[in-house]
Amino acid sequence: MALIKKFRIKSYKNNETIVELKNISVFYNKRQILENLNLKINKQEILGMLGPNGVGKSTIFNLITGLKDVNYGKIIINGVDCTNLPINERFTKFKLGLVPQYGGLINDLSLKENLTLVSEIHIKEKNMRNFKIEKLVSQFEFESLLNIKAKHLSGGQKKKLVIAMALINDPKILLLDEPFAALDILTIKMLQEIILNLQSTEEISVVICDHQAADLLKTCDRAVILSNGKVIASGSPNEVITDKDAKNQYFGDEFNIN
Ligand SMILES: Nc1ncnc2c1ncn2[C@@H]1O[C@H](COP(=O)(O)OP(=O)(O)OP(=O)(O)O)[C@@H](O)[C@H]1O
Ligand SMILES: [Mg+2]
Repeated sequence: MALIKKFRIKSYKNNETIVELKNISVFYNKRQILENLNLKINKQEILGMLGPNGVGKSTIFNLITGLKDVNYGKIIINGVDCTNLPINERFTKFKLGLVPQYGGLINDLSLKENLTLVSEIHIKEKNMRNFKIEKLVSQFEFESLLNIKAKHLSGGQKKKLVIAMALINDPKILLLDEPFAALDILTIKMLQEIILNLQSTEEISVVICDHQAADLLKTCDRAVILSNGKVIASGSPNEVITDKDAKNQYFGDEFNIN
């Protein structure tokens, strides 16, 4: 199996924990989704989260942001027990940014209006708001789409808009649920570069889950593989793709990143 060649020069290894999920169990009705799961996200790392459909990846993002309560266990962010902290307090106190798997924008507002709305929530100063929006418009090449209603954007354009909206408040912890889905090859590359740039300049921690495993593994410092409610493998991208359990339960024998 080919080893993963990263397109960046530096990779980050910081063992200071920023988010910890401790002995988490989650049920929907009586169906158990996560079982005594333990997961740490380190400061300034890009963590890839992989696992089969329905294993609980989006649920984990919902637990971190507070959109879903745990049945058992604790969520610790920056050393603070947030298990019972409301969503809005988590977002502002710890500067969370979330790109949900679906939705995340207001369909009847234009692309520019969606960006403006989020900027008005997070940034007091009008000049700063305009500066931030202009920067994102240029970075994501939105110039010709500013007045198009969100509902008329293509699938990939919508995803790019939601990602740009998540970056408006300069998050310190960025959670990306399938950011590469629906994006074309060059846009994926652009997004990978934006993520790596944020990591080195803004020192943010990023968690990405995506089924585009090769793109994900090229971007992350560390990856975890989930199966049957638990983390079954954790390590560098090269370590997880050669892990026996990860191969059996997620990658299969044919997985190749080239
Ligand atoms: N609100 C809900 N009510 C009932 N069951 C739910 C709810 N939300 C999620 N589930 C169940 O929890 C499990 C985990 O769902 P989740 O969306 O976290 O999976 P995922 O790993 O993100 O999957 P995918 O790769 O398909 O996005 C699934 O079996 C799903 O049916
Ligand atoms: Mg999901």
